[in-house]
Amino acid sequence: MAQLKVFVISDSKETRYKLKSVLETPDIAIVGYGDVHPASTQKALGLAPAVVVLCYENETVFELAERIYQNVPGCSIVLAAEKLTMQVVRKAQSCGIGMCVSLEEEPQTILDTVRRAGALGHTRANIGSARIGGESRVVSVFSPKGGTGKTTVAVNVASAIAGMGRKAAIIDLNLDCACVTLFLDMQAKDTVAELSQERGNLTMDALRTYTVQHYSGLTVLAGPNSPEDGEFVQARSVEAAIAVMRPFFDCIVIDLPANFEEHTLTALENSDLVFVVLQPDIASVKAAHMSMTILNSLRMGEKTKFVYNKSAKNSFLGIKDARKALGRDPDYVLPFDDQTADKCQCIGRPIVAEASRTPLGRQLKAIAREVMGG
Ligand SMILES: Nc1ncnc2c1ncn2[C@@H]1O[C@H](COP(=O)(O)OP(=O)(O)O)[C@@H](O)[C@H]1O
Ligand SMILES: [Mg+2]
Repeated sequence: MAQLKVFVISDSKETRYKLKSVLETPDIAIVGYGDVHPASTQKALGLAPAVVVLCYENETVFELAERIYQNVPGCSIVLAAEKLTMQVVRKAQSCGIGMCVSLEEEPQTILDTVRRAGALGHTRANIGSARIGGESRVVSVFSPKGGTGKTTVAVNVASAIAGMGRKAAIIDLNLDCACVTLFLDMQAKDTVAELSQERGNLTMDALRTYTVQHYSGLTVLAGPNSPEDGEFVQARSVEAAIAVMRPFFDCIVIDLPANFEEHTLTALENSDLVFVVLQPDIASVKAAHMSMTILNSLRMGEKTKFVYNKSAKNSFLGIKDARKALGRDPDYVLPFDDQTADKCQCIGRPIVAEASRTPLGRQLKAIAREVMGG
């Protein structure tokens, strides 16, 4: 059975956690979180949820509800408030909110309300316009340790998805030392730093002027050309870029830096999948373990997958050490092949194109296929 896709809008972390623990059941999936801010309309467009749960924190929610009602086809809106007054309910009805529920109700009541709203949204979608967005996937590639192969994995998975004839994009969020364009032998005048200067409501037409196109069909939003430029990039711009791009791509891969700063967290929060890349050395295994703890505490454990890169028979540490540290098997294993990896990097060609028949190339393509659902 298809899960009911729910988008939660709240400025409060506690409310988001509460709704996550109440709503995440086998038939409901929370596809994203947004703030009570106009940018959440764009995000809702990209995520194409069946239900938006909008938390009443102040009067601005009504403006946002109206925007979502008018612009996001087929979704129905539930207003969730700590305390529901008649005045709030009346106002809600006048701006497209289908149902209201108090957060003080029993979890079952909140669940039932969201399920009923889902059925209502379905009816609206069938009457109204077609849904845009579909099953777009945002994949962040991460490790708090440098050199494990994040960029290698990000570039190759994204290129392989483009090679499958799917619409793919890659965003380089290494604000200090971006190198996705280097791996692809490309140059970008405009980058995520220039994009951050864009004022007003970001549209895909505007965003496209900051991207470059790889011959494989991959759209590249390059990282800043210098660390000084990187300072201009705001986490909010990252979130807006992902939201605007989502409806236009089957997959957006984000190459993340080795830190847990605000931009990284924003990307992780807005991703459907997080790949934590590790390699057979003690520091990277420790970093992977730390990532797991942090991602679990941020309730992102379920979407986290471990990519054990540079696996070699003769390395001192092996997969079993990683398994011991993580308490689970890595989800993917990539073989050590420095000749292929380094050569492809030097000539600026993806491994999945230049060395697609090597075990490393095959494994990278297999990951790409799995990301896109087999
Ligand atoms: N499977 C692999 N086998 C051998 N070397 C690899 C492999 N994957 C990546 N490398 C090499 O490891 C180095 C770091 O890779 P990179 O993708 O830049 O890591 P990160 O983005 O995590 O800093 C590069 O020299 C790259 O060629
Ligand atoms: Mg990198």
